[in-house]
Amino acid sequence: MNIAKKNAAIAALGMVEDGMVLGLGSGSTAEIFIELLGAQVRQGMNVTGVPTSAATAACAKEHGVPLVDPDKVDRIHLTIDGADEIDENFQMIKGGGACLLREKIIADVSEHMAVIVDASKMVKTLGKFVLPVEVDPFAMGLTVERIYTAMGQAGIKNVETTLRPIKRGKKPLVTDGGNYIVDCACKKITDPILLSGLLNSIPGVMEHGLFINLADTIIIGEKDMAKVMEIVRE
Ligand code: 5RP
Repeated sequence: MNIAKKNAAIAALGMVEDGMVLGLGSGSTAEIFIELLGAQVRQGMNVTGVPTSAATAACAKEHGVPLVDPDKVDRIHLTIDGADEIDENFQMIKGGGACLLREKIIADVSEHMAVIVDASKMVKTLGKFVLPVEVDPFAMGLTVERIYTAMGQAGIKNVETTLRPIKRGKKPLVTDGGNYIVDCACKKITDPILLSGLLNSIPGVMEHGLFINLADTIIIGEKDMAKVMEIVRE
């Protein structure tokens, strides 16, 4: 187990209170958190989780974390999730695990989002990691043209796009929501808020991996500790 990710997950556990409804993120760091949470549940902690992917639901079941349908809860107190990149304004790229749509739905309705990462995820400018864009397979070519236009309007030139394949194979990966992922190699996203708005206005784009103003706490795991950073939003 990656020790930096584990230390971030341990620190996140300290934010969990008895009785909470938790948004459970996706990816390897979120899964470490779920495993640790499962141990607390076995010792009597009373929490329920809303999973952000089928993989997370399976992980929660394996570790004995009770799950609840998102439509059956009236609030989600805290979401704990990983990230692919985070900048100094707490803006993020997510979706490396193709779960961005459900992750964003849950993060958006959560009262608090804590992001658990190792230091390699912290960047000055977003864009070294590809930006995943989840698209409806219908008329995908037309949607990709609109994505190029949006990128140009946000000052990003020469974007390379790749239809994400399944892990071991050539077929396109299909998300939990039945969509495809177009990975956009942007190199530098200098205005993520502008790009996010432009992508949001394309009908064939189901969601994209720019998570704007969603993270409230960032927990950066290190070898023997974790650093906690908070942002205060009006
Ligand atoms: C999945 C995600 C993950 O949070 C992101 O890819 C980070 O994953 P990991 O914790 O394995 O580094 O956005 O869609």
